[in-house]
Amino acid sequence: MLAIACDHAAVEFKQEIIAHLKKRGIACKDFGAFDAGSVDYPDYARPVAEGVASGAFEKGILICGTGIGMSIAANKVAGIRCALCSDTFSARATREHNDANVLALGARVLGIGLALDIVDIFVDTPFSNDERHIRRIDKIEGNCR
Ligand code: RB5
Repeated sequence: MLAIACDHAAVEFKQEIIAHLKKRGIACKDFGAFDAGSVDYPDYARPVAEGVASGAFEKGILICGTGIGMSIAANKVAGIRCALCSDTFSARATREHNDANVLALGARVLGIGLALDIVDIFVDTPFSNDERHIRRIDKIEGNCR
């Protein structure tokens, strides 16, 4: 189960992502927003980030106009490695190298076709488990070897 949320800039965009994942047999818990009324993106980033950090959800997806605000807010939660991706190379690399557990997308930046490709790569690509990447992630978490 994935956790997903957006702000007012990305409600339809999020619905397309949820429908795409549903067709693939992947369920999402939708934390809102549910309409175009103006909201504050940190209020939507936090429950997704906390849900992933707690282990209730394996991964999360956050969408706002640029993806920037959502990624900044999510990365304030301990244990979250949120990657803002606008290309498929970065989506693959952030799973393999950073073990990113939340994906941020910009609905005003990306077309939905590219966004769905990025989502698929984020969902499908395993962490490399390479020792050097584990060491670097440990350092992000404050565990220096
Ligand atoms: C909302 O207008 C916009 O600021 C928000 O969606 C996002 O782009 C913030 O980073």
